Amino acid sequence: MKQRPLSPHLQIYKPQWSSVISILHRMTGVYLFINLIFASIYLFLLTCPTHIFETFVSIVRCTPYYFLIYTFLWSLIFHSLNGIKYFFWAKSKFMEKKYINALGPTILLLSILCTTFIILY
Ligand code: HEM
Repeated sequence: MKQRPLSPHLQIYKPQWSSVISILHRMTGVYLFINLIFASIYLFLLTCPTHIFETFVSIVRCTPYYFLIYTFLWSLIFHSLNGIKYFFWAKSKFMEKKYINALGPTILLLSILCTTFIILY
């Protein structure tokens, strides 16, 4: 088959706050979905005999679970804060470039601060 040139994609664009936050929003949405599956398995295992639950806990202990809990919580907070922004955008509010460029880093920083605060206290 003849090799035809591919159309340009993400890699030709300079990263901008609007695109970076949009990509992060989708990625955190997918990550939250995966975590919900694990949370459901965890809740189901709570109803199983103790030795099955203990096996599950010992498997979890072999993973970097503090990192996983941190990233799950951060995803939830980031996705929710950014989701609230989308509700304003749906009303055509805060859509000017100056707001977009200010909201991106603010939401990112706020989500990291909130997550760290919750984990530590
Ligand atoms: C565990 C809970 C959640 C999961 C699993 C989840 C999952 C997702 C996924 C996978 C997407 C991407 C859809 C796409 O880009 O095609 C998405 C988009 C979205 N989520 Fe969530 N979400 C959750 C919680 C929330 C919360 C709490 C909010 C609001 C406060 C929210 C607001 C939104 C909005 C507004 C979009 C659309 C963004 C767009 O138009 O590109 N989500 N969500």
